[in-house]
Amino acid sequence: MIQKLKSLLTKKDKLFLLGLFFLSILISIVETVGISIIMPFISVATDFTLIHTNEYYIQVYDIFNFNSDVEFVIYFGVILMFFYILRSIVNLIYFFMLSKFTQSRYHILAYRLFENYMGLPYKDFIARNSSTMTKSIVAEASNLTALISAILFMISEVFIVIFIYTMMLYVNYKITFLLTAILVLNALLMIKTVSKKIKKAGIIRAQMQKTFYEIINRSFGNFKLIKLQSNDKKMLNDFGEASYTYAKVNITNTTLQHVPRLFLEAVGFGVIIFIITYLVWKYENNVSSLLATISMFVLALYRLMPSVNRIMSSYNQILFNHKALEIVHNDLMYDSEKLGNQDILFNNEIVIKNLEFEYEENKTILNNVNLSIEKNSKIAFIGKSGSGKSTLVDIIIGLYKPKDGILLSDNTIINDLNIKSWRSKIGYIPQSVYLFDGTVGENVSFGTDYDEDILIDCLRKAKIYDFLTTKEGINTLVGEGGIMLSGGQKQRIAIARALYTNPEILVLDEATSALDDDTEKEIMNEIYDICEDKTLIIIAHRLSTLNRCEKIYKLEKGRIIND
Ligand SMILES: Nc1ncnc2c1ncn2[C@@H]1O[C@H](COP(=O)(O)OP(=O)(O)OP(=O)(O)O)[C@@H](O)[C@H]1O
Ligand SMILES: [Mg+2]
Repeated sequence: MIQKLKSLLTKKDKLFLLGLFFLSILISIVETVGISIIMPFISVATDFTLIHTNEYYIQVYDIFNFNSDVEFVIYFGVILMFFYILRSIVNLIYFFMLSKFTQSRYHILAYRLFENYMGLPYKDFIARNSSTMTKSIVAEASNLTALISAILFMISEVFIVIFIYTMMLYVNYKITFLLTAILVLNALLMIKTVSKKIKKAGIIRAQMQKTFYEIINRSFGNFKLIKLQSNDKKMLNDFGEASYTYAKVNITNTTLQHVPRLFLEAVGFGVIIFIITYLVWKYENNVSSLLATISMFVLALYRLMPSVNRIMSSYNQILFNHKALEIVHNDLMYDSEKLGNQDILFNNEIVIKNLEFEYEENKTILNNVNLSIEKNSKIAFIGKSGSGKSTLVDIIIGLYKPKDGILLSDNTIINDLNIKSWRSKIGYIPQSVYLFDGTVGENVSFGTDYDEDILIDCLRKAKIYDFLTTKEGINTLVGEGGIMLSGGQKQRIAIARALYTNPEILVLDEATSALDDDTEKEIMNEIYDICEDKTLIIIAHRLSTLNRCEKIYKLEKGRIIND
């Protein structure tokens, strides 16, 4: 666990933690002094003769030249008061630094997770579940923050306990041993019983949270279908079950959190009363001489009990959130793509040589594909569903790496060093267009600051601008997923989106097959016109739309069967 945590921290973090470590030692000393100093004060306050019998008091009395015993005690008291104020300030600074460190962890972890997911190779990304990734960013990062905070809390409290214990041992080891035995027994009992339950609750919590996100995504993503099949009851039931279980484990967790404290308090106060009764029984009436020792022990216990309790509840928090560390660590250690941006030219042709590809081992999807695509030519891939058309195009646009064989652009091999530059030459229009909830302008430019002239020019080319002027132009809202637009309009926005970066190569993967014949023809003709000086790669089912293509390749079971 420590190893995993260490790998998540930067050098600066480690330095900060070292600082916190020393500060927590300082706090422990301050706390211990704060408790032990009450003993001499009460001794002196109840028995002035001490001032003249104890050698230290005599010295202090002489050095500062006090006029009376009362004055001595008053000064002693005032100094103590200042000390306690100082103690509070030091504690406050410590808590501030602690929470500053732990809370900013949330920001850093969530950011790094998102960054890593965005850097995933396409192949790895589609193999993953997006709700799990959402959950990691939103929930697990915060659970891990709680875990880190619990560990730091635990460390500082352990110091306090050690220091105060040492002091108690020094003052009266018999009473201290008795207390130690009782408290340790309690702690063990708690760890054996309560902590186990909390750990189990933690595992169920993580499962339920995952189920949550999955059900929400599944339902909101297929809303129409669910409505049609009147499936909402089933979804609600599943969700209800997950949320109920989630609430239940949280109830268990929050209730059990209090058990160690309440138990310790009962035992702790019982022990104090036992000690006082025992002393009264042993020394009969004469306990006033022991008042100082007793008050020190009361104060020490009063300080120790919450500490021991916090150590235990931190321990439980660590158990409750331990899965978060594993999840976040695994996802952060995952290598993201390191891709280069070396210039690559495309002035003549793309050549594909002996291309082989498989998603899973020994399941060949593309088999010995050879072809060349001349600049500014219009070519198409056809073939049965599952024959590998999309896969081939995804390799050409640089989303997948070939297993064997090479891709060349003007005799330069397309590889990790130049893939970014290669991808930037490509405009892609998918079959199902995803528009996000925003304006047309934001959707076309993907949320970046856009150049209005270029944007309008692209919308004009895609023949959608006239329609938009009847609404709010580029500020027209599209609704979530583009729900306020028709299929054809969405498709045109997608065309404008693909044109916006002024790509040299335009790729359409069945981009128009969802449209009616006339609209499809119309849009395809517009695309051919736009692509006069661009290379166009089309996947289509209907041959009628390919009349302006120079070359049509037919794929069957991952092979090109005509040439
Ligand atoms: N991510 C993936 N993991 C494993 N297998 C995949 C993956 N994507 C596609 N396949 C498989 O690869 C084969 C080719 O798929 P591809 O999407 O390239 O076909 P296609 O020709 O585009 O079909 P369609 O016309 O239906 O779009 C199919 O058998 C498919 O099951
Ligand atoms: Mg396909």
